Amino acid sequence: MYPLCLSERLLWLVAGITLVVPVLSLGADYSADIVRILEEKCYRCHGDNKIKGGLRLDSPRSIMSGGDGGAVLVPGKPIDSLLYLMTTYPEDDPDYMPQKGEGLSQAEQALLKDWIEGGAIFGGGFKHEAKPTIGKKYSDNGLKGTYKIVGDAVHVVSKLQAMGVLVDTVNHDAKRFELVYTYTELPGGSFDFGDAAELGEALVKLSLSRTNVADEDLGRLKKLQSIEYLDLSRTSIGDQGMAHIVEMPNLSYLNLRDTNVSDNSIEYLSRMENLKQIYLWSSGITESGAKALRDRLPEAFVVFDTDIGLETQSRRARNSQTGS
Ligand code: HEC
Repeated sequence: MYPLCLSERLLWLVAGITLVVPVLSLGADYSADIVRILEEKCYRCHGDNKIKGGLRLDSPRSIMSGGDGGAVLVPGKPIDSLLYLMTTYPEDDPDYMPQKGEGLSQAEQALLKDWIEGGAIFGGGFKHEAKPTIGKKYSDNGLKGTYKIVGDAVHVVSKLQAMGVLVDTVNHDAKRFELVYTYTELPGGSFDFGDAAELGEALVKLSLSRTNVADEDLGRLKKLQSIEYLDLSRTSIGDQGMAHIVEMPNLSYLNLRDTNVSDNSIEYLSRMENLKQIYLWSSGITESGAKALRDRLPEAFVVFDTDIGLETQSRRARNSQTGS
């Protein structure tokens, strides 16, 4: 569906405001009013279980750190705060929040607006930064100095984004980056990873799924030693690529689903002792190849078929990884 243009949205907003005038100025309180609304209508997609749009709404700090698109709350300015604005769109707008389930009532919208207008006070000792970094998720604050990033992280992130790489942090940890190349349309043989390498040890997750990445490109991945999670699914990567991957000592997750990797790679894979999860289905690997790998790496979950055990298996693997 085509999103409404801004003026249509504003029109809607104005209509909304006129309707809610009588209930304005309630002196909305974060813990008494706002938490209840967010809990009931937003947490299920923006909490510790699911983090849609890279956004968590279940603590003052996570609300202030925003989502994939940057800040969602500008204290004092409801109109600039997506947290409020998106709840006021028409329900059939693709950006309307909550995306599913019952929307905010007009009284709830008014409370949210009132709270933001009053400075979005969280209470409990939480203080807004004197100079908030609006619209910039990867500000220098917290990155420089606290982590060994080669060069300027903000600069690196914008270079990668300009190439079409999706950049995110893992669990909102500014020291752990995830890069997704899926939408870059780079031709095979031209993946350089030079910019990615500038993130240094902060780069821990890399997805090349559905790209044109070629075996020879993986040779350049070797310098990205900090990567723990590598998704090569639905690419034409084959055994030659695996000869490079074996030199990535920190890999614990490797997805080779729908690739040309064959039993000739089992020898390489079995040398990767840190592997905890390996996805092999619809690759060139045979059942006996998968069995051989299971024997060599008894600690790892080798997922070979699409049976229903898969979900529980990978969940168990995750739990054993986090030790819970
Ligand atoms: C059923 C799931 C669901 C619920 C419930 C939900 N959201 Fe979302 N939300 C999403 C998804 C999915 C995205 C990402 C959309 C995208 O990137 O295109 C998103 C994105 C957002 C964003 C933009 C984040 C960014 O930086 O891009 C905001 C703000 C937001 N939601 C606010 C809310 C608020 C406020 C509520 C509760 C009133 C809410 N959402 C409830 C699914 C949900």
